[in-house]
Amino acid sequence: MVSVLFVCLGNICRSPMAEFIFKDLVKKEKLQVKFKIESVATSYEEIGNDMHQEAKRKLQENGIPYEKRKARRLTKEDYNKFDYIIGMDSSNIRNILRIIEKNEKNKVCKLLDFTKNTRDIEDPWYTGNFTKAFNDIYDGCNALLEYIKVNNVI
Ligand code: 4NP
Repeated sequence: MVSVLFVCLGNICRSPMAEFIFKDLVKKEKLQVKFKIESVATSYEEIGNDMHQEAKRKLQENGIPYEKRKARRLTKEDYNKFDYIIGMDSSNIRNILRIIEKNEKNKVCKLLDFTKNTRDIEDPWYTGNFTKAFNDIYDGCNALLEYIKVNNVI
């Protein structure tokens, strides 16, 4: 079993898109029973809220299934429950480290660290560019799955 927790600021745009894109990739490889995949926020702003309408639209456009959900905040306890804790940008990483306090097992990284061109995934909540966010997240999720297939026993 490999467990992956995607993290962003609000848990209504980027990390839930990553959650559903990654679930779809994993399902297409018939690996879904081997994975636990969730997403959370570092802030309290959107707790309890469903995914942003534009994020849903992007998933729909690309034929990726999603479910109604409620944003939840990262807790210190999540650190022991997941193998990979994956932020979308450098600010997410700073906030994650503040919440979990210790990262002794080096579980925290940015999604695009798994690609050849490590960088931040810009927040579409501020940029309005859900297409760019979707494309970056899609690339990151593909690279993450390849990394896990090589580096984890699944
Ligand atoms: P996300 O975008 O981190 O990609 O979910 C945001 C959504 C909401 C807020 C910030 C970022 N907010 O401050 O409410």
